[in-house]
Amino acid sequence: MIPLMKNAFLNEFETKKALSDFIMKADRLSMDVKCAEFERAFAAKQGRKEAILFNSGGSANLAMLQALKNMGKLKDGDKIGFSALTWSTNTMPIIQMSMEPIAIDCEPSTLNVMSHHLLDRIKTTKLQALFLTNVLGFTGDIDEVRNICERENIILIEDNCESLGTVLPSGKAGNFSIGASFSFFVAHHMSTIEGGMVCTDDEDFAEMLRICRANGWDRNLTAAQQVKWRKKYNIASEFEAKYTFYDLGFNFRPTEITGFLGLYQLQFLDDNIKTRQANYLKLEKIMLQNDDLVHLKHDHITLLSTFAFPVVCKTPELREKYLAQFAGAGIEIRPMIAGNMQRQPFYHKYAKQMYDLPGSDFLHTNGFYCGNYPELSETDLQTISSCLYKY
Ligand SMILES: Cc1ncc(COP(=O)(O)O)c(C=O)c1O
Repeated sequence: MIPLMKNAFLNEFETKKALSDFIMKADRLSMDVKCAEFERAFAAKQGRKEAILFNSGGSANLAMLQALKNMGKLKDGDKIGFSALTWSTNTMPIIQMSMEPIAIDCEPSTLNVMSHHLLDRIKTTKLQALFLTNVLGFTGDIDEVRNICERENIILIEDNCESLGTVLPSGKAGNFSIGASFSFFVAHHMSTIEGGMVCTDDEDFAEMLRICRANGWDRNLTAAQQVKWRKKYNIASEFEAKYTFYDLGFNFRPTEITGFLGLYQLQFLDDNIKTRQANYLKLEKIMLQNDDLVHLKHDHITLLSTFAFPVVCKTPELREKYLAQFAGAGIEIRPMIAGNMQRQPFYHKYAKQMYDLPGSDFLHTNGFYCGNYPELSETDLQTISSCLYKY
């Protein structure tokens, strides 16, 4: 069996041992200095001013929209574009925040929204924001998407939960927008068991995200930020400030275990990403010889930090054939994330407008993926390769 993911952590034994020692010695396990240390280290690694740690990628997504609402940048009823090929908790927060989700199609050869898809949609629909997903470690022509957003006054937000480590000539995936989310769930590039992050260069956004993350209070803000909020609302004493709630929030706090694991796993991240790319390029060589399969484009990407190994067949019938080959070889497989989101039951219940999305439909019916991670052995890679030949 080749599972989607072999271990909870890279260097599992060493990490679990270090975690046990940490737990035994720690005075406090609720959010504290380890979380703050991981935030600083992750922000530096990603090359952003601020990083705010959450208990999951999905909650990071919900908090980003809540924070933009609290700041008055988005409001009820706003139309928010999203990549039609994404994960449920990218799209659900748009609905949960009383905004209107507007699906944007994705290109089968890049798995992503391309600038032409965005241009097509905004011909008829004015968007206030675009919540773009960088899918499975790949991206679209994100520079051009950013240019359009800037020109059209569309707030660009990235869901980078599947693309930690991907680099384009103009920057890292996740650094093209006001803020980007990351996920550290076990199956992702880096695991803290459960966990998520938002990275941003916008200090006001970071401040509001910290308010949203913990109950709407000011406890996790800097001293200067606390003075500002307390002055604005005439909060005269520390006693009163403890239970003063300034704006809408949740309890999306991580624990010190999240912070410790994040810091520990961060030391393996560069090698992890390089191995993911090397695995992908090895398997791609076989895939490129097979004309049953769509050849995925990534020549605009300098470092391809794949989350998984995506396979896109030219027809649904061919997908059946390759699904059977993979299953027969004991390789765990999954659909191409949520496929065309418009086909998901929840979407029908809540969304007003459906669009023609031929690219996402193609990916929905013809795509699937198996795991790609550093622990794949040569034999595992050969087993996967053997399923990619056209027999
Ligand atoms: C694109 C995308 N966004 C959000 C999430 C949610 O992350 P989490 O599982 O940490 O809540 C995922 C999870 O796989 C994802 O793939």
